[in-house]
Amino acid sequence: MASLSLFSLFCMFSFLLGMAHAQLSSNFYASSCPKALSTIRAAVNNAVAKERRMGASLLRLHFHDCFVLGCDASILLDDTASFTGEKTAGPNKGSVRGYEVIDTIKSQVESLCPGVVSCADIVAVAARDSVVALGGPTWTLQLGRRDSTTASLSTANSDLPGPTSDLSNLISRFSNKGFTTKEMVALSGTHTIGKARCTNFRNRIYNETNIDAAFATSKQKICPSTGGDDNLSDLDETTTVFDNVYFRNLKQKKGLLHSDQQLYNGGSTDSIVETYSTNSATFFSDVANAMIKMGNLSPLTGTNGEIRTDCKKINGS
Ligand code: HEM
Ligand SMILES: *[C@@H]1O[C@H](CO)[C@@H](O)[C@H](O)[C@H]1NC(C)=O
Ligand SMILES: *[C@@H]1O[C@H](CO)[C@@H](O)[C@H](O)[C@H]1NC(C)=O
Repeated sequence: MASLSLFSLFCMFSFLLGMAHAQLSSNFYASSCPKALSTIRAAVNNAVAKERRMGASLLRLHFHDCFVLGCDASILLDDTASFTGEKTAGPNKGSVRGYEVIDTIKSQVESLCPGVVSCADIVAVAARDSVVALGGPTWTLQLGRRDSTTASLSTANSDLPGPTSDLSNLISRFSNKGFTTKEMVALSGTHTIGKARCTNFRNRIYNETNIDAAFATSKQKICPSTGGDDNLSDLDETTTVFDNVYFRNLKQKKGLLHSDQQLYNGGSTDSIVETYSTNSATFFSDVANAMIKMGNLSPLTGTNGEIRTDCKKINGS
């Protein structure tokens, strides 16, 4: 009797779990908007051809969306007189890029299939296609995310990791979202593309000791000890190519951010960095799986949320 009711509880639970993901599927737009994916890919390729860094920016946009209320395009909502979005949060302001690319893609898919393709899915697909465009791995995305009708400035400030984080902080922030330490290291490997502002690595290049001396000197040339906060540095030596050079740089104490070098600083993640630095195929497969997992963080499905017509605004506002 007891085992029977436990069994039926288990069945109900599995059924509910199945329901929660019932609307996410890899062929979600196959009949409702068959050209959606090729349209997004073409627009991403076009944007990356114009500026390679845009691939990095679109990938980061997806990360900063997913870590705040889940992958629901909350990051895209503009502030209004009566609404505060996430764009002015510390980790986003003056830093997150690519909003115009998403708007361009959205208007293209809206003219193909009005009201069908969510902003959250566009961001997820654009991130994947960006990595592919820069020579990284591909992965199969679950689609059918819907868009939020809210955003959270305070969660963006509290949940996104900062560049001064120590290893234990990085591990716990990712663990809070369900990621293992190894997945956190793999995801950090996306710093193989893109750039950072002087303000985010100044203290590291002037004050830290676990840094290659010649590397620090060369970075000091583009990042003065005062001023030039927005001067940019590449995150690794091959910034427009998605590869495992980021991990080789860490082994040479050439991590740009304090948080980067934390992954190879005598702690528990050194061995993971070793593996990824010598085995690019393992890094590619681990980062692809971790990206799928990140893309599945708390999606809105079914009748939750909405399909925004303008990614910057809640419908009817
Ligand atoms: C592990 C914790 C992480 C920290 C502390 C961190 C921090 C940062 C910082 C400070 C920047 C430079 C921003 C600026 O100076 O304007 C940056 C750039 C970037 N981050 Fe992260 N990040 C982390 C994880 C991730 C993850 C998980 C991803 C993607 C899955 C990611 C993707 C990127 C990319 C692609 C860039 C370059 C963006 C561009 O050039 O526009 N980061 N990150
Ligand atoms: C170096 O560290 C000192 C002491 O914490 C701090 O006051 C100073 O601003 C730091 N220098 C730079 C360039 O960040
Ligand atoms: C960095 O910033 C400083 C101060 O604003 C500026 O003089 C310098 O030209 C910048 N360097 C580079 C390489 O952009």
